[in-house]
Amino acid sequence: MVYDSGSGEYKNWIVKEECVPEEHPEKTESIMCLGNGYMGQRAAHEDYYHEKSRFNLVAGTFDLMEGDEATELPNNADVTNCEITVDGERLTPEGGCESYEKTLNLKTGLLRRVFTKTMKNGKRVSAEFLRVVSLADRHLMASKINIVCDADCEIALKSGIDGNVWHKEHFEPMGISAVSDVLNITTRTKQSGILFSTMTCNKFSLDGVALDASPSVVSEDDMTIMNEASFALKAGMTLTLTKISNVFTSRDRERDGCDMASLKSAAAEHMKRAKALTFEEIAKASADEWERRIWSERDVKIESENEIDQLAIRFAIYHLTVMAPVFDNRMNIGAKGLSGPGYKGHTFWDTEIFMLPYFIFTAPDEARSLIEYRYNSLDAARRHAKERGFDGAMYPWEAAWITDGETTPPQYLTGQIEYHITADVAVGVYSYFVVTGDEDFMKKYGYEILIETAKFWASRLEYVAERDRYEITNVIGPDEYKEEVDNNAYTNYLAQYNLQLAIRYAKRLEKEDAETYARLDEKCGLSDAVRDFESKVDKIYLPRENEDGLVPQDDTYLTLKDIIPLKPGGRTLSEDPRESHNICWENGGLPKVMMSKQADVMLLMYLFEDHFTADVKKKNFYFYEKRCVHDSSLSLSTYSALAADLGELKTAYRLYGRAERIDLGPVMWSSHEGIHSASLGGIWQCVVFGFMGVRRYGEELRIEPHLPDEWRSASANIIWRGERLEITVTKEKLTVKNLTGGKAVSVLHKGRRHEVDGVLEIAL
Ligand code: BGC
Repeated sequence: MVYDSGSGEYKNWIVKEECVPEEHPEKTESIMCLGNGYMGQRAAHEDYYHEKSRFNLVAGTFDLMEGDEATELPNNADVTNCEITVDGERLTPEGGCESYEKTLNLKTGLLRRVFTKTMKNGKRVSAEFLRVVSLADRHLMASKINIVCDADCEIALKSGIDGNVWHKEHFEPMGISAVSDVLNITTRTKQSGILFSTMTCNKFSLDGVALDASPSVVSEDDMTIMNEASFALKAGMTLTLTKISNVFTSRDRERDGCDMASLKSAAAEHMKRAKALTFEEIAKASADEWERRIWSERDVKIESENEIDQLAIRFAIYHLTVMAPVFDNRMNIGAKGLSGPGYKGHTFWDTEIFMLPYFIFTAPDEARSLIEYRYNSLDAARRHAKERGFDGAMYPWEAAWITDGETTPPQYLTGQIEYHITADVAVGVYSYFVVTGDEDFMKKYGYEILIETAKFWASRLEYVAERDRYEITNVIGPDEYKEEVDNNAYTNYLAQYNLQLAIRYAKRLEKEDAETYARLDEKCGLSDAVRDFESKVDKIYLPRENEDGLVPQDDTYLTLKDIIPLKPGGRTLSEDPRESHNICWENGGLPKVMMSKQADVMLLMYLFEDHFTADVKKKNFYFYEKRCVHDSSLSLSTYSALAADLGELKTAYRLYGRAERIDLGPVMWSSHEGIHSASLGGIWQCVVFGFMGVRRYGEELRIEPHLPDEWRSASANIIWRGERLEITVTKEKLTVKNLTGGKAVSVLHKGRRHEVDGVLEIAL
């Protein structure tokens, strides 16, 4: 069991591991990862670790390792380590201990681990480990270790900076030093040339009184520097090690491209101030920032029969905070955030379709920064399109640094033909604009993205004379089990939408903002481009439902061998994905049967709700759901939110329950490479868009709640065109409070518009 609802003040705020994991410690290392968007610090243990457990990942610091094909986030030196011996015996909970507990407090961002162990000589030792990565100061991290023994003993501690971590080959050592009580390692990434400085300061105290421990400095090589100290500890007294650390790099916006001397001096200045603080002061400043920036504004409250529902949404918001470098528009969110090496730290469509909606509706400035990243990558996307023989901008399937272009490892076809990412980016821009009304953003960045992405599609379309229509062949749609297919419905609809958006805004600009129009005409050839878009847009082939009411996922999906029912009375693939491995993978390769990895047609129906009748949506839902193994963590949330729209609440809640357990559930290997970022954005969407029914509907805000039976109420804040709204849904009533009260917000409910400048109450 890896979650627990906590109690008292922290009820429904605590993620807990109750025993030493015999296997797969990676799970809680990922799901209890600390961070602040600048860096992520995986929750590996101080005293024991396996090869791939210690990760300190700094957003945007991509580097190409010799012999590798794609850049990745390098793993910075570790400051969490501490080797403890009691009378010469190593202290670690591994191999057995009397009590053990590891918790992450989502409200305060505090990681805590405690255990008690009887050593071989019969002495009982209790140890407490606390750690925080500051949300108030992004370079700062602190930890504290308290040790008590029931008998007099000799304790030795070795603690410092260890650069000998997994994939350290990214770095060239640039020097280690110990100046006064501050240890420092400096390194440089070999290909991208980014300088790193990591500092730490060990402070010892006994029963709260500072000790002048005069630790010795030891170093085994040019990637390690440690303090060693030993103490004669009296029974019942508490020995404390407080470790204050900081990380700076030459990629930091404030010192972009600086030299090592100035990097070190910024780090040393910072350390001078930081080491004067206590652990409690650092932890409090960080907890206060969690409260100020996140929980006071973005908490979602759920009263449910199942406590995990409340915990899961907070878990999602917690991770969406620690993983997102929203203060630097040259960076974006990785598919595993900053919590592990999975997907090399790369950004996918996961951002636009799954996570961005959370930011758009709760923190527009942060959303803007994430989209500006796409603008800052526009030149690379233009280059990419050109290299592939297309016009406009073709966004990379996997993105890293803004100038990198496509970073999908070449062995994956996704990097060549999973084209829909380009339209997903356009959808993100459009949604942001509708919800925020941020015209300044559109003028500077948004319109250009819409035009350049539309130009890409106009050149990518293939005219088929005998059918007098444009098709898009040889693609991968969202369902990555189906490669090299023709006319993936999701892709074709989104391509058309991208063109429609570009046409609509070009026309509007031409009428209302001649200056911007002229600038874009000169820069992007807007007038010619729009003529081209208009000649093609209505001739794009959009797969419609067949006589059975099914919308084909692509030209061949519905002609493939059906595998339902698997066996008489058997469980469907969705209920038991293991079945797919028995039946479909026997010859290796991707299954050429009606089986999907993830939501595809369903995502289309979720995003384009008006294009299909409720009846068609329902039919397709049950058809595709049975054939979907939800083998991607992006799948369940879409199915759940769509089921909620369709009023299929039992199904929606069942699927939601599975979505919230992707990272939080008991399967221990599920998050070893890092948490599932998109799934966390999906959880927020299930709750707010799905069950609470709060949606952007065209250009309007619509609220149509569908609470599951198990919930008594749900409440969330959103920001619509600058007005903060508190929305509460119970079985009986919908309440919308305009907390800003600046201007009335129009809310659509059951076809009627209500203007809300104070409080709106509607009986349900
Ligand atoms: C999914 C993609 C997703 C990627 C990163 C893959 O398994 O199929 O849709 O973008 O993971 O999360």
